[in-house]
Amino acid sequence: MSRTILIIGIGAGNPEHMTVQAINALNRSDVLLIPTKGEEKAFLADMRRDICERYLTNEATRIHEYAVPKRRTDGSYDGGVNDWHHAIARIYEETILERSGPDDTIGLLVWGDPMLYDSTIRIVEHVRAAGRVAFELEVIPGITSIQALCASRKIALNRIGLPVQITTGRRLSEGWPEGTGDVVVMLDGVEAFRTVQDRDAEIHWGAYLGTPLEVTISGRLDEVAETISETRSRARQQNGWIMDAYLIRRRDGPETEGET
Ligand SMILES: C[S@@+](CC[C@H](N)C(=O)[O-])C[C@H]1O[C@@H](n2cnc3c(N)ncnc32)[C@H](O)[C@@H]1O
Repeated sequence: MSRTILIIGIGAGNPEHMTVQAINALNRSDVLLIPTKGEEKAFLADMRRDICERYLTNEATRIHEYAVPKRRTDGSYDGGVNDWHHAIARIYEETILERSGPDDTIGLLVWGDPMLYDSTIRIVEHVRAAGRVAFELEVIPGITSIQALCASRKIALNRIGLPVQITTGRRLSEGWPEGTGDVVVMLDGVEAFRTVQDRDAEIHWGAYLGTPLEVTISGRLDEVAETISETRSRARQQNGWIMDAYLIRRRDGPETEGET
């Protein structure tokens, strides 16, 4: 007898991103854990609730909401993230012990896909390492914001036979990565596209992808960077939060990447 934890990718904003496998996983769960935090997270929590309303047909499934602790921002970034993950792991552990039986299935709903800039898998492994709860683990893939971006802009992610690097705004702002002419940027709080020196590069930008708030802009950096920046600030002000991602493609490809 053992518990099962299902880490379920729910897609990046459109409830119709839910796969048949994800819907089945939702309905296999005895308990579903839904995180809540801040304005952005309120939207994400609503989205998770909407998904449950649409697809949950198992009347025995219990939904448990929990408040995500705040991440410490003093001290080192890595130390803050590590402490934060352990704090969430303790919440998972307590909730699982208090709210589920020894052979129950617990579903964790993860935005997009659990393998992309998401630490749920790592956090669940902290729970396992603590040794107080035994469980089997299954991961159900979801549609990522990168897929939502490419589908919305009707583009292929990679150029024929060429690599693409996925990175954060913070890293791109430190310089163009070596060995690639194509970069996908996520988690960008600094508008790193403004720091790219090759203004001839093409950008495909999207915010709130898949949601009713979706807005996208594509074009040459020197022509659209300002518009993206203004649109981004306005949307962020109107909605109280923003989630955006973009692909930048340099016309000269990866061979001359060291130039910037
Ligand atoms: C913590 S990561 C989670 C990524 C997620 N696991 C995925 O598969 O897309 C959050 C970042 O993903 C991107 N993102 C997620 N959903 C998005 C959406 N609907 N529209 C635009 N960007 C999105 C943004 O760059 C955001 O800062």
